[in-house]
Formats: sequence, C-alpha cells, structure tokens
Amino acid sequence: MNAFGLAEFDDAAVENGNNLFKTPCIFFKGVVQVNQLPPGDRLEVAFAGRSNVGKSSLLNALVGQKNLARTSNEPGRTRELNYFRLSDDLYIVDMPGYGYARASKSLILGWTNLIYDYLKGRPSLRRVFLLIDSRHGLKNTDMEIIALMDESAVSYQVVFTKTDKIQAGSLDKLIKDTAEFLKKHPAAFPGILATSSRKKTGMDELKASIATLI
Ligand code: GTP
Ligand code: MG
Repeated sequence: MNAFGLAEFDDAAVENGNNLFKTPCIFFKGVVQVNQLPPGDRLEVAFAGRSNVGKSSLLNALVGQKNLARTSNEPGRTRELNYFRLSDDLYIVDMPGYGYARASKSLILGWTNLIYDYLKGRPSLRRVFLLIDSRHGLKNTDMEIIALMDESAVSYQVVFTKTDKIQAGSLDKLIKDTAEFLKKHPAAFPGILATSSRKKTGMDELKASIATLI
C-alpha cells in the first residue's frame, strides 16, 4: 500500500494476475434465489456496488470481452447473481446493484434480500470487491453493505470506478480519505484499487489482487 492508501503489487504479483486472466471467462449461471447457488466447491469473488457504478463493465474490461456481462446506461441492468467461471479454480460473481429507487417495491426487496442473504452466508466467497463511483464516493447504501460485511466478517476491498471522469488531485484525496475511513472497519482489506473500464486503467492491480486469493 502506498502513502495514499492505494494497493501496490510487485512484478511477480502482476504476472500472476495476468496469467490467471489468460484463461477464457465463461458465463456459468444466473441465480435469483440463494437456494439456486451452485455448490461452493471453489473460490469466488464478487463485484458489489450501487446500481450503475460499473460492475458489469469492470468484469468485461478485466477479461477483455466486451459483451460477456450485460451493461447499460440505465441503472438496474443486472438482476441476478451472475456466475462466471475463470479457470477451474474461481468464480467471479457480477451482482445486481443496490440503491436503485426506480423499480417496483417488490423487485427492490427481492434484489436486496438476494444481495444480503448472499453476502452473509457464502463460505466460499473469498473477497467482495466493493465498487464505488469515484465521482460520488461512499453513500449511505454503501455504508449499509459495509456494516453487513463487517458484522459477517466478509473480506471486502474498495475499488473506485470511472476514474477517467475525475481529476488526479481529487482522486488522490478521495483515496486518502477513504483509506482513513476504512481503517476503522475490521473486514476492510487495506489497499484501495482505482480503475477505469473505459481507459483500462487499474486492470493489472485488480487481476493481481484476485490472483493473491488463489
Ligand atoms: P447495474 O447492473 O445496473 O447495477 O449496473 P453496473 O454496476 O453493472 O454498471 P454498468 O457496467 O452496466 O455501467 C453503467 C454505466 O456506466 C454504463 O453506461 C457504462 O458505459 C458506464 N461506465 C462503466 N464503467 C465506466 C468507466 O470506467 N468510465 C466511464 N466513463 N463510464 C463507465
Ligand atoms: Mg450490471
């Protein structure tokens, strides 16, 4: 971790990450209820965050496949826990977004229950990458998920998205402030990641971070 709070990796870790992502990533299963979850027979990591933060775009950028996960301008695109298989060792789960107010109450309740039940009770879930829009920082709905993961001892790491949209100085300050905030949160993994799916920045670091878990 550097002085700002940004995660750092040496060349060997970056190479491990790039090697892991040389294998194709394929869609495996969409889950709408926790009783449909696949057997927890391998590690998994999940991309969580508010609607429209860029979870599906980040997965596509990471694996270098434009349309693997469906993305949209409209919040509420991903409505299932979408399981993707990378090599035989790992699932990557693209989650529905939270904090989306413009859907019916029953739909929102369904997604929220799914997100909460999944995050609380999945032993093979090794780390949650908590995506935060770098233009907005942490919001109340993020705080609720953070509280849940702290209580349930689910390891999470903050990933800023859309860094192409903000200036370097603002990003440095955001990283510093957020790292300070996370120090008080027991399940937060130290070291923040900063990404842009559009510019493909931060991909080496995110891949390296995932590869350290295997
Ligand atoms: P839900 O599935 O609805 O929760 O959204 P999501 O978090 O999966 O977001 P998605 O990947 O669908 O992206 C939402 C919007 O943000 C799309 O219009 C993307 O093009 C845009 N977007 C995603 N990543 C970036 C980025 O790095 N930079 C910029 N400028 N736009 C981005
Ligand atoms: Mg999505």
